Amino acid sequence: MVAAGMSAGAVQVWSVVGTAAPSAPVLFDHGLTALDPGQIDSKWTNEACQACHEREFAQWHGSRHHRAATNDSFREQLLTPGDGRKQWCINCHAPINAGAKNLPTQEPSGLDGLYHRQPTWLRNGVDCLACHVRGDEILATRATAAATRAHPIRIAPELGTAEFCAGCHQFSSHSDVFPDSLSGELQQASLEEFLEQQAGARCHDCHLLDGDHRMAGGYDKQMLAGALDLGVSAEWNEELRSALVSVEVSVGHVGHRVPGGEHFFRYLTLQTTVEGKHGVSLQRRAAVSGSHAPGTESAEMVDRWPRIEFLGHKMGTFEKHFVGEPNPDSRLSPGETRAFRYLVPVDAARIGSVASIRTQLWYHLLDKEKARSLGLSVDDTRWIVAARETELTLGANE
Ligand code: HEC
Ligand code: HEC
Ligand code: HEC
Ligand code: HEC
Ligand code: HEC
Repeated sequence: MVAAGMSAGAVQVWSVVGTAAPSAPVLFDHGLTALDPGQIDSKWTNEACQACHEREFAQWHGSRHHRAATNDSFREQLLTPGDGRKQWCINCHAPINAGAKNLPTQEPSGLDGLYHRQPTWLRNGVDCLACHVRGDEILATRATAAATRAHPIRIAPELGTAEFCAGCHQFSSHSDVFPDSLSGELQQASLEEFLEQQAGARCHDCHLLDGDHRMAGGYDKQMLAGALDLGVSAEWNEELRSALVSVEVSVGHVGHRVPGGEHFFRYLTLQTTVEGKHGVSLQRRAAVSGSHAPGTESAEMVDRWPRIEFLGHKMGTFEKHFVGEPNPDSRLSPGETRAFRYLVPVDAARIGSVASIRTQLWYHLLDKEKARSLGLSVDDTRWIVAARETELTLGANE
């Protein structure tokens, strides 16, 4: 059953009892069952593919898919009671495992020794076999004569669809009561957000362009910088004796909200500072009511820097214990420009001096506390996507 299109709040139930499938399925089912690739011919290994597909192999080898089960963040969470220790994590992060009979909520056998043993399927994460091999056949969206001579090909149009990616890239939590079902808010919603755009493109058009098997995403600083833009400007408001600062962040060609992917982890912050030379404070303490001065209605008075805006979708209490309203989703939508306007009342003694206004857009793989609790270096988990600055002579508008 193709179930990738499930929507938030929907409860879906799949049977985990084996059915007599005519041939091994192409699509993944959101981790509910371990992939059953059929009896893979032992000659098909990733290294065997490498012999003829050097380029795809090298790209995949450097990708997050390759390291999906061995990166520190995943390893730590998989081994932590409560967060991990479930078959379903492995079903998506290293599909070529032999856990087919486990329920998704079951603890995989021999879990504690797993990283000591380092079986091949674990080291390879999401690999050529998981996406391309079923039984003794190679899945492809086309079959050239040369390809058919090299290996038996099974034409699988599914491979070319967003649903194929969404089999792993869209899911909500599972329940202990019905371990073979998913319920509640989506924790990754790539497909739903993608369909919202109705842009007609596929995941592949951006993430697998020209067959680029790096399948880059948030870890790729260039891709992020290319997708996001930042602007800052400032003007003097004589009536309020204040600087009015505007910061704008905009999203270009992206197939889903930004940041995409995992809601629990990824977010952006926009960090703005307004100060004089050598970090001197410009601030007047007296309150200002901006709401009546023309042009400043939407501005917020700010007196502490840096001012930090959060753009993300921090979900509420983790999955099944979650009750109440979902947290707001403040991520950006494709094509959107979001503006933040700050009103900065200026101390009379600073009039005539120059204010320096700096803004930085940060990408966060996960928050500081979580990074520390996983033993990761915080600096490796966040970086600046874009930075801009401008100056304003206080008391003058030219
Ligand atoms: C995450 C899934 C995934 C993984 C992992 C993966 N592929 Fe692919 N591969 C695809 C998809 C999807 C297509 C393109 C389908 C389409 O658009 O026609 C593709 C296309 C290809 C093609 C056709 C030519 C091209 O580059 O577009 C080759 C050859 C190929 N893959 C080989 C490999 C090899 C070898 C590996 C392992 C080193 C690998 N793939 C790993 C999903 C994957
Ligand atoms: C003996 C060499 C050889 C090996 C080994 C090999 N391939 Fe291929 N493969 C080819 C050739 C040749 C083509 C055709 C390339 C073309 O037409 O441009 C091809 C094409 C493909 C295609 C695209 C289908 C098409 O018609 O272009 C995919 C997908 C693919 N291979 C995947 C794999 C995977 C995955 C493995 C490892 C399990 C693998 N191949 C192992 C030689 C090989
Ligand atoms: C078998 C499950 C599976 C399938 C199928 C799959 N992915 Fe992934 N993908 C993952 C996992 C797991 C990760 C997380 C890797 C990690 O731990 O960082 C990931 C990571 C990614 C990333 C993030 C890379 C980065 O730099 O941050 C992108 C982009 C991505 N996949 C795109 C795709 C696309 C496009 C497809 C379909 C052609 C696809 N994936 C199919 C499981 C899958
Ligand atoms: C129009 C281009 C485009 C399309 C279509 C698109 N993406 Fe993306 N995707 C991006 C860009 C650019 C980023 C980097 C910005 C961000 O993190 O959101 C990204 C980021 C991601 C990430 C975040 C990786 C991380 O490290 O957290 C994942 C996962 C992802 N995309 C999966 C998908 C899937 C699955 C589809 C199809 C359902 C898809 N994308 C469609 C452009 C696209
Ligand atoms: C339905 C498939 C699926 C299941 C089930 C799943 N994941 Fe993931 N996971 C993904 C995908 C896809 C990504 C990549 C999202 C992104 O890059 O934003 C990911 C990302 C992650 C990351 C972030 C890695 C990084 O790059 O920082 C961690 C950690 C993680 N998963 C742990 C787990 C654990 C632990 C479980 C089990 C409780 C689990 N996952 C279950 C598909 C899955």
